[in-house]
Amino acid sequence: MPRALVTGPTSGIGKEFTRTLAGQGHDLVLVSRDQVRLDELSQELQNEFGVDVRTISADLTNRSDITAIAEVIRNDSFDVLVNNAGFGVKGAFLDTNVDQEQAMLDILITAVMQLSHAALPGMVNRGRGYVFNVSSVAGWITGGTYSAAKAWVTVFTEGLGVELAGTGVRPIAVCPGFTHTEFHERAGMDMDSVSDWMWLDVDQVVSQAMRDAKSGKIISVAGHQYKALTSLLRILPRPLVRRASGARQTSSRFARGDL
Ligand SMILES: NC(=O)c1ccc[n+]([C@@H]2O[C@H](COP(=O)([O-])OP(=O)(O)OC[C@H]3O[C@@H](n4cnc5c(N)ncnc54)[C@H](OP(=O)(O)O)[C@@H]3O)[C@@H](O)[C@H]2O)c1
Repeated sequence: MPRALVTGPTSGIGKEFTRTLAGQGHDLVLVSRDQVRLDELSQELQNEFGVDVRTISADLTNRSDITAIAEVIRNDSFDVLVNNAGFGVKGAFLDTNVDQEQAMLDILITAVMQLSHAALPGMVNRGRGYVFNVSSVAGWITGGTYSAAKAWVTVFTEGLGVELAGTGVRPIAVCPGFTHTEFHERAGMDMDSVSDWMWLDVDQVVSQAMRDAKSGKIISVAGHQYKALTSLLRILPRPLVRRASGARQTSSRFARGDL
């Protein structure tokens, strides 16, 4: 049986990746913090798809947990790695808690880099494998630490694509736009002003990623609206991109003039 490791499988995009991979017959190692949800998901997948599921409770903002998961990956043979776990921090940079910003960098960058580094040598030796790095359309705009981290994920994955060409191993940056998951609620973000046409469902994001990975694309963008938007973002002069992204992120301290 092929094997896959998914981070952040308990909800949203990661859960859809997990169900899709189980449906394809992958045995699974599932990594996130909530052991109750991991156990429920594991039972559901074993009953529905008859695959073998191991769960590991780990906090991927914690360096020793990241190292432990990297060790699990090095000691096993994975055909698929999905670096998906993540969260956002609400507010302008000067208004946020710096420890939260750091934790966001740890999960969005350090974990992705460490787990990729652990998985890739084995995949290259076996001449096959997929690494799905869940990035974001936000990587093309200027939305603070989150955007910068997602820009890192996309560029890192593109670099791997060049480095691994011809090895049979396919890295792919999955770049969703606004997607219905628990992401915004967990961050306490009010999304009422986002129009309906801007929302994607998780199955759109994951089915597009699967198709794009099979066809050898390195960047996957789901939805016509986001294909158009990201094409534009890649050619617009950066001052325009900054201006368009900037209004929302103006620090309330600057806005109030009390800094
Ligand atoms: N939703 C969007 O609009 C959107 C758009 C672009 C990109 N993305 C990206 O998509 C990815 C998945 O997010 P989602 O939208 O599916 O959000 P979600 O529904 O909130 O799911 C996040 C997943 O990450 C796990 N997770 C969160 N913090 C963790 C930690 N410290 N350690 C280990 N696991 C942790 C959660 O599991 P536990 O609670 O069990 O730990 C959960 O399974 C993220 O990388 C996000 O940046 C989302």
